[in-house]
Amino acid sequence: MLLQRMLKPQHVLVLVLCVSASEDFDWTKSERGSFYYGTFPTGFSWGAGGSAYQTEGAWDKDGKGMSIWDVFAHKKGKIFLNDTGDHSCEGYYKFKDDITLMKDMKFNHYRFSISWPRIFPNGIKTDHINEKGIKYYDDLINMLLDNNITPIVTLYHWDLPQVLEEKYGGWQNVSMVNYFNDFANLCFERFGDRVKYWMTFNNPWSSAVEGYETGEHAPGLKLRGTGAYKAAHHIIKAHAKVWHTYDTQWRSKQKGLVGISLLADWGEPVDITNQRDIEAAERYVQFYMGWFATPIFNGDYPQVMKDYIGRKSAQQGLGISRLPVFSSQEKSYIKGTCDFLGIGHFTTRYITQKNYPSGRGNSYFTDRDLVELVDPRWPDPGSEWLYSVPWGFRRLLNFVKTQYGNPMIYVTENGVSEKVQRCTDLCDDWRMQYFKDYINEMLKAVKDGVNVKGYTAWSLLDKFEWDEGFSERFGLFYVDFLNKNKPRYPKASVQYYKRIISSNGFPNQREVESWKRKATETCSSSNQLLAAARRKSQQDNKEQEGMPKVWPVHDEV
Ligand code: NOJ
Repeated sequence: MLLQRMLKPQHVLVLVLCVSASEDFDWTKSERGSFYYGTFPTGFSWGAGGSAYQTEGAWDKDGKGMSIWDVFAHKKGKIFLNDTGDHSCEGYYKFKDDITLMKDMKFNHYRFSISWPRIFPNGIKTDHINEKGIKYYDDLINMLLDNNITPIVTLYHWDLPQVLEEKYGGWQNVSMVNYFNDFANLCFERFGDRVKYWMTFNNPWSSAVEGYETGEHAPGLKLRGTGAYKAAHHIIKAHAKVWHTYDTQWRSKQKGLVGISLLADWGEPVDITNQRDIEAAERYVQFYMGWFATPIFNGDYPQVMKDYIGRKSAQQGLGISRLPVFSSQEKSYIKGTCDFLGIGHFTTRYITQKNYPSGRGNSYFTDRDLVELVDPRWPDPGSEWLYSVPWGFRRLLNFVKTQYGNPMIYVTENGVSEKVQRCTDLCDDWRMQYFKDYINEMLKAVKDGVNVKGYTAWSLLDKFEWDEGFSERFGLFYVDFLNKNKPRYPKASVQYYKRIISSNGFPNQREVESWKRKATETCSSSNQLLAAARRKSQQDNKEQEGMPKVWPVHDEV
């Protein structure tokens, strides 16, 4: 039976993609090189993305149930300025306008996620299916396709139905595997005739670590040293189950692909001639991306995680490791469940070894025995954690190639934010520079032989940035959140990215050097328009609400 299944052509393809031997990554070979003029292979896919809770708004409309993020954001003190995603960009109502923007930029794809509680308000299939929620995604998908934009769909971008958290403890409970599979199966049934690129999870590292270990994200639990490992274990099982569901029930009819999107910052040894630094840097990457990628590609957790967490657990006097164990059946079920790998990448850290004594205070972070450092010369234009280190991107992509048998990769997130002080500056010079340099390093990686098929700028719009609320703006388009209509304004980087897309890369020095100037030609006048519009919406808000709107003073132009 197993042999018959493996002989089908689509499975042979998947095997070739996924189950190739891993090679050693050469940590000591660090070529930086100068800017590379050239283009991407024909058919390379360009786009941008967003996610349901970050953009849709309409949190309680048309029968949607509550997610853990609705509940978390409504608690005081969890989110910067107590912002919520209740309305956000109102993408639920404005998706047609957004597709017009995408069309103008000549996107090949758009990445978005489906809100689980919009489809199953109580999380569970047998309760009821919300047809209005289905209709919203039907309309979105159909309109994208009508405009020749391929939908790339994430099934879980952190918005677990609240009922499942309350009743079962969310991802701490293995029952999520079947509930998530039911949800995914319904999405395949209802949308799979048109959607051909599925991602099970987005950045499960954050769901596990920030959701169940540090508590900075929903559901806000602080289960130090165990919560993240347990959540990740169930997420990996759920991913595998959904991949198998697609494989056995839908693939032959629908002919799509199922992958996962992993966030992966790069870790560079402080001293590449020092073996201890190299090992520490490798641990950083293995505890981050390898935690999820290694089971999915190679069948089990990275050896270094098993060793370190196992040893620390023993030193704590625990009888078993805090890192759960996959049975041998589970290992073979999980191995190879990847048709393509989504990579979200933003930044890099220098890494060096540091021993943390084991004890009761053990956590995911101390288990790794390392410290993260940054070079103060690295540009740091936006979010506190986000330093622009373009060469790290090429290193990461080459690492993926060697470790997981050169899988098909879609870059699912890459971009930079701006701090709130500059949030009305549409002349986003630093974002153009970031895109230019990062996309160029991706081009070098493609020349190195890394199998990157597409790139997704993060994000199309300014949006709700989780615990940072609306204070960090990643968008190509500025959104005026003070205005009820949430108008979008193009930043200069829209023009810049448009040129990269239309040239499919960086054709030659003369042309590329003119792009920034051309992109900034109109942004000063757009700035003035935006400033005037914002003053008006601030005024309208005051009149309507009869009270001053709370907004940081430094936000004014
Ligand atoms: C990764 C998350 O998937 C995304 O939702 C978020 O906006 C970016 N990180 C930037 O923080």
